[in-house]
Amino acid sequence: MHRRELLRFLAGSPFFMGLPQIPGEKAITSPEEAFSVFDFERVARDVLPPAHWGYLATGVDGDRTLHRNREGFDKFGIRARRLVDVREVDTSVEMFGTRWETPIVLAPVGSQKAFHPEGEVAVARAAKNRGHLQILSTMTTSSVEDVNAAHDKPVWYQLYPTASWDVTEGLLKRAERAGCPAVVLTVDLPVISYRETAQRLARMDSRDCSVCHETGPIYFRLGRKPMFDNVDVTGLTDLDAPSLTWSFIERLKEHTTMKVLIKGIVGREDAALAVEHGADGLIVSNHGGRAEESGVSTIEILPEVIDAVRGRIPVIIDSGFRRGTDIFKALALGATAVAVGRPYIWGLASFGQEGVEMVLTTLRRELELAMRLAGATSVRALDGSFVRPKT
Ligand SMILES: Cc1cc2nc3c(=O)[nH]c(=O)nc-3n(C[C@H](O)[C@H](O)[C@H](O)COP(=O)(O)O)c2cc1C
Repeated sequence: MHRRELLRFLAGSPFFMGLPQIPGEKAITSPEEAFSVFDFERVARDVLPPAHWGYLATGVDGDRTLHRNREGFDKFGIRARRLVDVREVDTSVEMFGTRWETPIVLAPVGSQKAFHPEGEVAVARAAKNRGHLQILSTMTTSSVEDVNAAHDKPVWYQLYPTASWDVTEGLLKRAERAGCPAVVLTVDLPVISYRETAQRLARMDSRDCSVCHETGPIYFRLGRKPMFDNVDVTGLTDLDAPSLTWSFIERLKEHTTMKVLIKGIVGREDAALAVEHGADGLIVSNHGGRAEESGVSTIEILPEVIDAVRGRIPVIIDSGFRRGTDIFKALALGATAVAVGRPYIWGLASFGQEGVEMVLTTLRRELELAMRLAGATSVRALDGSFVRPKT
């Protein structure tokens, strides 16, 4: 009864961000049936326990930024060119000397075994088969070694530094030894944000969560996160790093051979500072509407960041990307690549590796179609003349 009520509530609520369902239309039962990534969102919502769905779907406070991320794409239209031979389109991009078949990157998402028993390893197999870069969270539930063994190109490692440099160094060295070529420092959560929707849905979950979620000291809780195996976390009292400032970037650069990217940049001033402090790249991101409740979408922020960076380092963007046309707009506005978070997790929760593959295939197919219909034959050819800002 509880579950039925919950599902009815979710179907009509803003927690379910997909397209309105056609009355009587059934959820898909295999990845091939999907028309868009939203078909996977529906299945994921149905199969996941309420608390895990809540962890995935939540924004912060009243979820305004979460919604704004989608609405922001309406601020830009596409300006198409005609009479261009579009039989072949080249979606490949290059970052740090590696060429990727597609500009679509898998953003770091923690605890993927909460969505499917094969978690990050299933995602790595899918990313490998479809030629995508994967970024692995510090909060991964599979080891970086296992994930890299499943992918033919080592993942980039996302770093939550914690308040202890010794812990940071332990994580960095482990990622380096595993062959990761880049570290992505996430800077948008100096303290944990207020995830109200997640808490509401967790309260509706009647399962005994203590079976999987330990309580108590940090070192006890981190026991299930393989990145912390063999890292001494006994002195750690907090996972947050509220004292972090720009000098940390220089320190990171001194202590690692990996490229250093900063994730969570949302304005021109910090984009310029990132370059000044030696960052090798940055990710424009509001954590998928899970950091501060700014009420501003990342696609609206992108032009000022591109302006400040002036082509000196690659700029990746994420938060709210669900359609090929969304990706098209970001690339035309100057992004080097686009990362997605929730969509591939919807695929994972729905159908494991096959679901992730189909989500990636769908996004790439939509991007190629958007390029053909707009007369753009390569990502390189995409520039500001392909977008029309709306007032
Ligand atoms: C369930 C979930 C877990 C996440 N975990 C992390 C994480 O561990 N590290 C991180 O840097 N970002 C994390 N993110 C943010 C993503 O990397 C990315 O910025 C965001 O999902 C992009 O927005 P989208 O989900 O709308 O595509 C997480 C996002 C979600 C939805």
